Amino acid sequence: MPNTPAHIGRYLLEEEIGRGGAGTVWRARDPLLQREVAIKLLSGPALGENRDDTQRFLAEARAIARLVHQNIVVLYDYGTEDRRHWLAMQYVRGRSLAKIVSKDGPLTAARTVEIARQMLRAIRYSHGQHLLHRDVKSSNILIDEDTGAALLGDFGIALMENSERLTTEGVALGTPEYMSPEQCQGMALDERSDLYSLGVVLYECLAGKPPFLAEAPLAIAYKHVHEQVPPINRSELPPALLAILRKSLAKKKEERYGSAESMLEALDQLGDKNRTPSSGLPILPSESNLRNGRDRRLLDRRRPDDRRRDSRRDEDPASDSGFGGKFGVHKSLWWMGAGVLVLVLATFLLVAWFVLFKS
Ligand SMILES: Nc1ncnc2c1ncn2[C@@H]1O[C@H](COP(=O)(O)OP(=O)(O)OP(=O)(O)O)[C@@H](O)[C@H]1O
Ligand SMILES: [Mg+2]
Repeated sequence: MPNTPAHIGRYLLEEEIGRGGAGTVWRARDPLLQREVAIKLLSGPALGENRDDTQRFLAEARAIARLVHQNIVVLYDYGTEDRRHWLAMQYVRGRSLAKIVSKDGPLTAARTVEIARQMLRAIRYSHGQHLLHRDVKSSNILIDEDTGAALLGDFGIALMENSERLTTEGVALGTPEYMSPEQCQGMALDERSDLYSLGVVLYECLAGKPPFLAEAPLAIAYKHVHEQVPPINRSELPPALLAILRKSLAKKKEERYGSAESMLEALDQLGDKNRTPSSGLPILPSESNLRNGRDRRLLDRRRPDDRRRDSRRDEDPASDSGFGGKFGVHKSLWWMGAGVLVLVLATFLLVAWFVLFKS
């Protein structure tokens, strides 16, 4: 680790575990509390040279440290060393969502919704504390390998970074692939900007990559502002989920969900039938279907047994008969057999009656 101290603050650096645009992350040890921590050392000279900046960062760090939520990486400590900011945070054993998608490929609709729900709870909570994330992206979502829980990290980091990622007005820039149109244009952000970025993450989970990619950051920004989201060619995806995705990725803030709560409600209200559309539909359903609220389909919070039962039903075309799958086929055969038997019996009685009384 050239030029890297063995210690930062009281923390003993053990292994570099990641490197991002803002700095480097280490697994480290807190000898006092005897626990593992993650240390992030921001690259570039720290802002905060003057008293106002220092106060601003401190205020931000204090606000982030007050966030206590099961889906948010806890900030333990904060300081500067050699004019660079560092943060000590909860160490999450596992992989980032970005790594999972890039290595394992797109996720199922059910897993995507599970992650979306957890992230929306985290965002709803932080917005309730008047804190925007400003840099929601798949590499800032860590999946705990023991519990499967998703944790949102790097709150407020966008504000603490060096000036390369700040506009002239001091507005924080995020990561181009995940930036909302208003963020791309250096305009003020609000809750709906975080929801747009989460929409990009959900798109990435389902498509395997973010909707807008290009070599130059400016080209990506242009696409966020002007281009339609490309379709995802996965005909099995529930249209109602795609409708939610479409709304979260609306160019105009006013057309998105107004809050994390309302997007969460939309996910909760997904229908109770996890059925796949019969023909290949484009990722984003038509405007008219959206407006009519049609195509509500399942995303699954039910017990595994119920899910298995329904997926068996989906495999069986007879399921729509109302008899419920294979059992329905057997039941109709039984009724047909009984009908034939009654018919044979009636013919026999008729013939017997004729023979006995007419002879
Ligand atoms: N609290 C943590 N616990 C465990 N691993 C972490 C933690 N924070 C970050 N990491 C790991 O370090 C990697 C790099 O994180 P980092 O935040 O530096 O990069 P990034 O998110 O890609 O970019 P940015 O600097 O813009 O946030 C993550 O992808 C993750 O694997
Ligand atoms: Mg990060």
